[in-house]
Amino acid sequence: MILVTGASGHFGSKAVEHLLKKGIDPQEITVLVRDLVKAEFLKEQGVKIKEGNYSDYNSMVEAFIGVDKLLLVSSNDREAIENRTQHHKNAIDAAREAGVKHIVYTSFVRKLGFEGSAIAGFQNSHVQSEEYLKQSGIAYTILQNGIYTEMILAFVGDKVAETGTFLFPAGNGKASWTLREELAEVAAHVLITGNHQNKTYTLTNTESVGFNAIAQCISEALDKKINYKSPDVNEFRSVLENSGVPGMYIDMFIMWSTGVAEGMMDLEDSTLASLLGRKPTSVSQFIGQVYH
Ligand SMILES: NC(=O)c1ccc[n+]([C@@H]2O[C@H](COP(=O)([O-])OP(=O)(O)OC[C@H]3O[C@@H](n4cnc5c(N)ncnc54)[C@H](OP(=O)(O)O)[C@@H]3O)[C@@H](O)[C@H]2O)c1
Repeated sequence: MILVTGASGHFGSKAVEHLLKKGIDPQEITVLVRDLVKAEFLKEQGVKIKEGNYSDYNSMVEAFIGVDKLLLVSSNDREAIENRTQHHKNAIDAAREAGVKHIVYTSFVRKLGFEGSAIAGFQNSHVQSEEYLKQSGIAYTILQNGIYTEMILAFVGDKVAETGTFLFPAGNGKASWTLREELAEVAAHVLITGNHQNKTYTLTNTESVGFNAIAQCISEALDKKINYKSPDVNEFRSVLENSGVPGMYIDMFIMWSTGVAEGMMDLEDSTLASLLGRKPTSVSQFIGQVYH
């Protein structure tokens, strides 16, 4: 039995979809959701549904009984990074108590020097979770996922076709953007094929791309000149504040943009391509599909 957590979310639901596409019997798949209302579409796929929460240890022990392989999709708790770490520890402890044999954990791409970077907070949470998993005695596979290509849409904003300009303080930094759906496909592959035990994979794209190139791709897709401007972080903050963007989102945008400017997600690698069995979708292909 395979269990996928976070199955009501983007990554988990795609992982389930890929398990089914790869021919796994829906009866061999269980999903963990914290809100059963959000699991209706999963019920229709014939998979087993368990209700559970990363902060409720007993709910997870109960859900994990009889599970051989667990896809632990990292928590997105927004209240505090420490909560995420505790969520992962709770899930790992529950898996050990329930007798799970192998945990596949979705971590994040990491480069040397991350400790002093803008993304150190959530990186530390992944480091601690990875260490805890390694020491659990359960076989593990750590997927160090690249930054989602899909996030470019949020960073560029939905007014770009109208205004012809977008602001993002990422300077000339590049990132090795990865399509969330392809990362989920690889997670499904790892769950159902052998030789992945006690391995850590860097899952990023084979070519890093910065926002000048992204603006160029959008220009071509829209057949209109699109300008990228990288303001000072304080100027960016006040522009967003004046447009009524909530503080939590402003902080997130600044964290990601500074992380890109620092090159913290610029790590070209071919492991994703080899596990996918094809070249990952490039930023220009993605932009061509979403901007018309
Ligand atoms: N690589 C990247 O660029 C990147 C970017 C952002 C995030 N991430 C990480 O990757 C993860 C998966 O991404 P995603 O796009 O699928 O995120 P998502 O759509 O927000 O999904 C997160 C999933 O985790 C579930 N969850 C959150 N807190 C939980 C809790 N306390 N107990 C049980 N389930 C809980 C959510 O349940 P509900 O549906 O009930 O909310 C949802 O199913 C994120 O959670 C985050 O850790 C990676």
